[in-house]
Amino acid sequence: MAISETVTIQKLTLADADVLLELSKKTFFDFFAHLNKPEDMEAYASVAFTPQKIQAELSNPNSHFFFAMLDGEITGYLKLNYCHAQTEFQDPAAVEIERIYVLAEYHGKKIGHQFIDFTLKAATDKHLQYVWLGVWEHNLKAIAFYEKHGFEVFSSHEFVLGSDKQTDLLMRKAILSSSKPKA
Ligand SMILES: CC(C)(COP(=O)(O)OP(=O)(O)OC[C@H]1O[C@@H](n2cnc3c(N)ncnc32)[C@H](O)[C@@H]1OP(=O)(O)O)[C@@H](O)C(=O)NCCC(=O)NCCS
Repeated sequence: MAISETVTIQKLTLADADVLLELSKKTFFDFFAHLNKPEDMEAYASVAFTPQKIQAELSNPNSHFFFAMLDGEITGYLKLNYCHAQTEFQDPAAVEIERIYVLAEYHGKKIGHQFIDFTLKAATDKHLQYVWLGVWEHNLKAIAFYEKHGFEVFSSHEFVLGSDKQTDLLMRKAILSSSKPKA
């Protein structure tokens, strides 16, 4: 597909903190505000999306952020966590996709697909055993997207959005060039 050939994936630095903060807030509200109570969205965003929090995340050597660029425009972002930066398990043989967002106007253009391929290649290069992520049980489009890329549900956990206790499905995909993922 021609459009995907011009997408480049760019690693962020601390200098990108302001842009990342705005993009993080925008995508979070764009995709989830209509599905949740405003007070729950605000409660979560007021903690997760502050300049201090974003700067700390960008400064963590085990958290890597990337933009997908198309013709000079940011189309989405990816956050990968290694080792102790992972939100659960902290398995040194794994990488977590904590955030993967493509702006709505770019959906269906295989940018998400490129983010997944990029993650799998990074995991392979680092000789990791699997990639995992958490996804809201009601986010059926994202679940279908992950299943299409070979991810399978292996567990679930509670995710608290403000006062709302939600269930995230945990999905993972083994890296074939390596040994099998741990049980
Ligand atoms: C999930 C997401 C990252 C996929 O990125 P994308 O660039 O739209 O995905 P691609 O173009 O590579 O693939 C689209 C495929 O994913 C699925 N899909 C998921 N969300 C879609 C959407 N909003 N529009 C079109 N297809 C979507 C379709 O099954 C489609 O399959 P197809 O290739 O057979 O048509 C993106 O839709 C997104 O940012 N969604 C909102 C935020 C979100 O839910 N993030 C995940 C949180 S865990």
